[in-house]
Amino acid sequence: MNDLRFDGQVVIVTGAGRGLGRAYAGLLARRGAAVLVNDTGVGDAGEDLAQSRRPADDCVAEIRDAGGTASASYESVAHEAGANAIVAQALREFCRVDALINNAGIGMDRPFAQTSPDDFRRVMDVHFMGTALMCRAVWDPMCAAGYGRIVNTTSSAVFGYLNCAAYSAAKGAILAFTRSLSLEAAAVNIGVNCISPAAATRMTAGVGMDPAQRSWMEHALPPASVAPLVAYLAHETCALRGEILSASGGSVRRYLFGETAGFRTAALTAELVAQNLSNIVDANSFRAFASTNEAVARAQELDQDPSG
Ligand code: NAI
Repeated sequence: MNDLRFDGQVVIVTGAGRGLGRAYAGLLARRGAAVLVNDTGVGDAGEDLAQSRRPADDCVAEIRDAGGTASASYESVAHEAGANAIVAQALREFCRVDALINNAGIGMDRPFAQTSPDDFRRVMDVHFMGTALMCRAVWDPMCAAGYGRIVNTTSSAVFGYLNCAAYSAAKGAILAFTRSLSLEAAAVNIGVNCISPAAATRMTAGVGMDPAQRSWMEHALPPASVAPLVAYLAHETCALRGEILSASGGSVRRYLFGETAGFRTAALTAELVAQNLSNIVDANSFRAFASTNEAVARAQELDQDPSG
């Protein structure tokens, strides 16, 4: 198989100054892409006090030193003006946008009782609004070009993670956004998919791990081990649409969405729910769906099944 190259293509990577985004930007640049390296350089929970141009500048210097093409952007993805400015810069400097990697993020590990309304807004603004606003900003240029690739970022926190309700909710919003947007995007040749990464970064350093776990993670789960999946999803040959793939330490897996066959009756009562709980939750009858329409079609199919 030929190498998957990005020569002549332009990719925007948000939050590319550190951690995972930096590894994505480096790999894409080594494969020929001109990369717009966006990073506001905030603290790990989004504190503005720590704002700095350094992370984006360092990443750009690293790419240029290796012979690649990159430019720095310091705008925040969390505001409409910032998202529009990031895309406008890519168009101004590189004349096109072929792929967008929505990676910028902040941590928010705290018990619900200590999560303020502002914490919820901040984490939703960076993760979900940042993703939606960036997609909105590239949408018209990608539609006009008749081509685009978008890679969003969710987290295994969507499965349920203790002391992480706000962050999980924001990542869940991205997941659902990806699934629905991909249906519209496919019609205009824009591939939208999502990754759920795991890697040792500043963000995971803040999660209470013992020193042995931390050192294992640093050794076994480097950010560079996630980057190849992002490169594949951003490539023109990628035919996947609306998929959520997880990646860590060289392994790639797929999230599935669906329902069990469950239990049905013409006259449901609370008692029948209680009596048939084992059928309702039985994972053996699980079936995955690509869309809500497929879920409705299966419900109709089960309803018309005379054996049921
Ligand atoms: P990181 O903290 O090392 O890097 C995130 C970067 O995003 C930082 O450089 C930060 O300055 C930048 N950023 C934050 N707010 C921004 C904004 N409004 N506009 C532009 N840039 C902004 O974190 P890491 O681990 O590399 O995370 C990258 C993405 O992967 C995040 O979306 C995170 O939620 C997600 N993720 C990471 C996991 C991991 O194991 N590291 C696990 C699951 C998800």
